[in-house]
Amino acid sequence: MILSVSVLAVMIGVVAGYSPNRLWSTNRYPYNVPYDQSFQEGYSLLKHTGSYGPYSNRASYGIGRDPPAGCAVDQVMMLRRHGERFPQASAGKAMMDVVQQMYKNKTGGGAWTDDLEFLNRWQFFVPEQGYFELESFMGPYAGLLESYRHGAEYRTRYGHLWDQSPGKRVPIFVADMERVTQTARKFGEGFFAWNYTTSAAINIISESGKMGANSLTPRCQSNSTGNSVCANLTNYHPQFDIAAARLNGMSPGLKLSWIDIFALMGKPSYLKMSAFELNVRGYSDWANVFTLDEWVAFGYQNDLDFYYCNGPGNADNKAVGGVYINATLTLMNQGPEKAGTLFFSFHKSSHDTNITPVLAALGIPYVEKDLPTDRIAFPNPYTISDIMPMGGHLTIERLACNATAAAPKDTYVRLVLNEAVVPFGACQDGPGYSCSLGNYTRLVQAMLLDYVSTCNVPASQPQYLKFFWEYSNSTDWNYQRGEYIPWQGSSDV
Ligand SMILES: *[C@@H]1O[C@H](CO)[C@@H](O)[C@H](O)[C@H]1NC(C)=O
Ligand SMILES: *[C@@H]1O[C@H](CO)[C@@H](O)[C@H](O)[C@H]1NC(C)=O
Ligand SMILES: *[C@@H]1O[C@H](CO)[C@@H](O)[C@H](O)[C@H]1NC(C)=O
Ligand SMILES: *[C@@H]1O[C@H](CO)[C@@H](O)[C@H](O)[C@H]1NC(C)=O
Ligand SMILES: *[C@@H]1O[C@H](CO)[C@@H](O)[C@H](O)[C@H]1NC(C)=O
Ligand SMILES: *[C@@H]1O[C@H](CO)[C@@H](O)[C@H](O)[C@H]1NC(C)=O
Ligand SMILES: *[C@@H]1O[C@H](CO)[C@@H](O)[C@H](O)[C@H]1NC(C)=O
Ligand SMILES: *[C@@H]1O[C@H](CO)[C@@H](O)[C@H](O)[C@H]1NC(C)=O
Repeated sequence: MILSVSVLAVMIGVVAGYSPNRLWSTNRYPYNVPYDQSFQEGYSLLKHTGSYGPYSNRASYGIGRDPPAGCAVDQVMMLRRHGERFPQASAGKAMMDVVQQMYKNKTGGGAWTDDLEFLNRWQFFVPEQGYFELESFMGPYAGLLESYRHGAEYRTRYGHLWDQSPGKRVPIFVADMERVTQTARKFGEGFFAWNYTTSAAINIISESGKMGANSLTPRCQSNSTGNSVCANLTNYHPQFDIAAARLNGMSPGLKLSWIDIFALMGKPSYLKMSAFELNVRGYSDWANVFTLDEWVAFGYQNDLDFYYCNGPGNADNKAVGGVYINATLTLMNQGPEKAGTLFFSFHKSSHDTNITPVLAALGIPYVEKDLPTDRIAFPNPYTISDIMPMGGHLTIERLACNATAAAPKDTYVRLVLNEAVVPFGACQDGPGYSCSLGNYTRLVQAMLLDYVSTCNVPASQPQYLKFFWEYSNSTDWNYQRGEYIPWQGSSDV
């Protein structure tokens, strides 16, 4: 039986002496009970840090993660976001500015008190500017550790699919960015261990718009004006006023507004900074400054942003995400003998080109009604910390199943999001709520939007994703070559 990422995270947390902060440290069941009575998921900060905070497994529907009885995985495709990381340079510098302003505005001398007492000792969590936007490397949520552990866990789960015949290499596909490449390498080292150097072949896929559909990051140049809700999102929530007033009350001279708490587009905020501090340090004194109610509002504003700007609320996103879904559909229909067995792809999560469009193209998770913007949806069908936290991933399994009392011998498909099985829409009549490949193919083909026409891809650019079939076996990029050059792009905050 293989240990889940969360169990390992808890074990590492215990070893590291990590103690959760006072607000949500309510685990009264330190001993083994046959059925957990605490159900603390909702009280975990990690379920409210949106896309900025450490990885956590998706809350499951209770469907077993292992293949159902009579089934074996014969092909697997994974699309994974980079691991926990430092903030990007622009965001990180702005965070430092805000904190410096805070120190400057404080009047009346004396020490910081109350919830801000830690500021008497606190230091910014990025020790050198050179670390900006790289994977984090210490504490229980270290991005590099998390990526390696994920690879090792998938070796246990999918190691039987590794074709070890002489000369064979397994390509690993990587969107061209340092932190994504580093994530892929650590995952590869975890999966292949002693054989990584010679058995894996890191394939770096350019992020250039000229790649057309042959990309992990396809662009969309459409005439659609985008989503008007996205354009109008204010990000305001009354909980942010409450937090600002409380903090201002603690220290004379502070003039925080809700914007400092949450931040407007592109601006940093204390909540966002705290999520990054968790990635980097494994704990954050800032996390204690805010109540869980305030974190819930933070998470929800992030959900709205992804839903309306990068997810199902925008048809262009569905067309963009369809490129990967269409390609994996072809892989599964060709089958493991013809196409190969292991397709690990690595990606970032930036505006327009992230993994949420892929999920939107598939219609998972299913959202019946658009998210309300005037209040928080309880329950919330589109929680981004459950969908695409740092290290988030979609795993598509092709299952070869024997006949059971309920389903014939056939090939089936199962979608796994952050280690929780998510049934594909209405099609769940296979073993373990899977969908037969025939029905999956029919349903997906009917729902896919055409990327080339929707996004006006010029005829001079590739019209299909080709790299899954035309990859390099070179090991040249398995390790970093030369000096790391900081990425100069924007948007992944
Ligand atoms: C399917 O049935 C065959 C023949 O009985 C058996 O060898 C195989 O192990 C079964 N596959 C699974 C995944 O149980
Ligand atoms: C500091 O004071 C300035 C001037 O009043 C204000 O604009 C700014 O928002 C304040 N910042 C903080 C962090 O208190
Ligand atoms: C994997 O590495 C081990 C240890 O070096 C070696 O004995 C084995 O032949 C390697 N397997 C492949 C397929 O390269
Ligand atoms: C890579 O190796 C595979 C066999 O593992 C082979 O089919 C393919 O042609 C090779 N690709 C290149 C570019 O050499
Ligand atoms: C937008 O629409 C106009 C008129 O239909 C068309 O001529 C133009 O090529 C389109 N531009 C893009 C980027 O699709
Ligand atoms: C904001 O929404 C209104 C309708 O509620 C719409 O008229 C307007 O164009 C939207 N703003 C943007 C920038 O899309
Ligand atoms: C596939 O779809 C057909 C028609 O909708 C249905 O009769 C059949 O049960 C489905 N089979 C599977 C395995 O989903
Ligand atoms: C999916 O890819 C195939 C080629 O592999 C292509 O013929 C088809 O048009 C594509 N469908 C969409 C919706 O892009």
